[in-house]
Amino acid sequence: VIEKKIDSLLSLMTIKEKVGQMTQYNGSFDVTGAPSDIDARTKLEKLKNGEVGSMLNVLTAKATREAQEVVMKNSRLKIPLIFGYDVIHGYKTMFPVPLGESASWDLEALELSAKIAARETAAAGVHWTFAPMIDVSRDARWGRIMEGAGEDPYLNSVIGVARIKGFQGDNLSDDYTIAACAKHFAGYGYAEAGRDYNTVNVGESELQNSILLPFKAASKAGVATFMNSFNEIDGIPATASVHLQRDILKGDWDFKGFMVSDWGSIAELIPHGFAEDKIQAAKLAVVAGSDMDMEGRVYEVAIEQLVSENEIKEELLNDAVRRILRVKYALGLFDNPYKYSDEKREREVLLAPEHLEAARDIARKSIVLLKNEQAILPISKNIKSIAVIGPLADDKDSPLGNWRAQAIKNSAVSVLEGIKNTLSADTQINYAKGASLGIGERSFLMPLKINDTDTSGFADAVAAAKKSEVVILVLGEDAFQSGEGRSQTDIKLKGVQQELLDAVVSVNKNIVLVLMNGRPLDLSRPSDQVPALLETWFLGSEAGNAIADVVFGDYNPSGKLPVSFPRNVGQEPLYYNQKNTGRPSSNMVTYSGYQDESRDALYPFGFGLSYTNFSYGDPEVSDTKFSGEGSIAVSVVLKNTGKVTGKETVQLYIRDLVASRTRPVKELRDFKQIELAPGESSKVTFTINSKTLEFFTSNAKWEAEPGEFEIMIGSNSVDLKTVKITYE
Ligand code: IFM
Repeated sequence: VIEKKIDSLLSLMTIKEKVGQMTQYNGSFDVTGAPSDIDARTKLEKLKNGEVGSMLNVLTAKATREAQEVVMKNSRLKIPLIFGYDVIHGYKTMFPVPLGESASWDLEALELSAKIAARETAAAGVHWTFAPMIDVSRDARWGRIMEGAGEDPYLNSVIGVARIKGFQGDNLSDDYTIAACAKHFAGYGYAEAGRDYNTVNVGESELQNSILLPFKAASKAGVATFMNSFNEIDGIPATASVHLQRDILKGDWDFKGFMVSDWGSIAELIPHGFAEDKIQAAKLAVVAGSDMDMEGRVYEVAIEQLVSENEIKEELLNDAVRRILRVKYALGLFDNPYKYSDEKREREVLLAPEHLEAARDIARKSIVLLKNEQAILPISKNIKSIAVIGPLADDKDSPLGNWRAQAIKNSAVSVLEGIKNTLSADTQINYAKGASLGIGERSFLMPLKINDTDTSGFADAVAAAKKSEVVILVLGEDAFQSGEGRSQTDIKLKGVQQELLDAVVSVNKNIVLVLMNGRPLDLSRPSDQVPALLETWFLGSEAGNAIADVVFGDYNPSGKLPVSFPRNVGQEPLYYNQKNTGRPSSNMVTYSGYQDESRDALYPFGFGLSYTNFSYGDPEVSDTKFSGEGSIAVSVVLKNTGKVTGKETVQLYIRDLVASRTRPVKELRDFKQIELAPGESSKVTFTINSKTLEFFTSNAKWEAEPGEFEIMIGSNSVDLKTVKITYE
């Protein structure tokens, strides 16, 4: 039925109106300094004439209603606008940044956080989020590593699907669901040397097996839209890639939704050296399958001419517009273009208490306990004195992270506040900032200056540490140190933070180092100095409360790293699922490693401790071989050998020992979360079938190749027990 309606609309549309549907304007701010040559009046005229299909960054029930009214009251065909916005980890209620939230490995919680974000976004008039980012990201130098699920293709796939389900629900036309966008298609997370927007050079095997795996899963899960990436792959900018968009996405995967460009990425085909001018850029992008031009101002100036000169066929426009209209129909916008623009609902929904409660819950699930010697954690609530020190200890802004949508500045619960909320007046809390981190205005676009000299606060910090039993030292990154355009060559603690740690440790060794950051840091020195390390990322609105829950034992930490933490920035890009190479041995000088550093991570992918201990039995298989569409079961007995209830994430990795294209030494293929009481054990069973073993083979097909496989089960990507099986 919808396709028929689209047919009849298409038959009425002029070329200008079709190009209009393929054009997205920015509503409020200019992120990259792309040309803003069209003034507000011209924009208004274009809206009235039906020459704009979408707007981004138009927010609130009121503003979206106003913009929609312009179109609905004036344009000839009254095709509603679709409003898009970057809702990356919450709209007003902030959840942990995506990398942090991914450390929960808790798919239900991840789906819930996206669902709540969708609820708030929908209530604020917006129909579409530019999320989830599912770029497999393996370089801690890249600032946007904070926006995805880390280094593993499988984890990115299942987390991406959970987020898509959360945003879109079962039915896009429900009142509280919004369209999701799988981005960035493709390869952005492989930017050479971690430099944003940089070149990517990968072959088909890496492209299909690693980069595209999460996108294939997103397409299968019914994501409504995709977004191009800024980078080139193998000499072809993704925005103009026929192979990515036509052959794979719209061909092999039969994706029916639409592709939006990234901000200005069609116009950027010119500086890429791939198009001579806007006319050629538009032609390349339309032919490749980029359906909507985000603030590139290219389609609007080029497409009519291209069609009239027969440089592109009108069918290509029809295909792009059909895809865009499909999503508008699915959202129910043709039935009621204002259904999202309800000011009363907006007042009721934003920052609802149950949203903050959920934000606290997923925040504590996202915390990763990296070290806990002498069981210094959890700290008893009866402690007499505690020092809370550090530039981030009472920071109410950094926990909100980058890409914070409409979060209210300084609205997060700080660590100091969380601790005060938890402890009684009997505990003396000695706070000292010690040092400062960022100078000047914090925002998405401002360059960051880190204060690297001022040590005048050290004396207070040392005094606070001296008179306290335990020190909670909160160090890390400023909120805007990770994110778009925030690539770094140095991933150690910035400014005078290391010196502050040295000063505090010289008077009190009972330090719990609480880290806030959006990327893996080089923690080699700090982790030698302190008995306890908690990785807390940027946890969002309820950060301080969630951290206090873990510090004082109200929540037993269960997070696992979604990304490897290096010993040294020189190891980057560092990821567990590397290839073996022809010279993997470390017994000789001439092997694939470093002379001055081990090649392993300091804290590996999948790693995270608990306040209890778990023991793993040896894996048992129901059979050592299977064939075709058969399967076998692999089980381990997991036992809680400690003193408190805890949750463990049991991880299953495979290795295909000999294959038609070399395979990684380990690949995550499944995981299960199990909660056990002290002394309790449980048998955890995984099913292995051909899907578990398949990869994109030298036949250019997804298939499992016969041969031997190692199946590894354990608590992280290093501590694993292995059984061998054969696929016949
Ligand atoms: O969604 C983002 C994208 O990830 C980076 N460029 C701008 C887009 C819209 O804000």
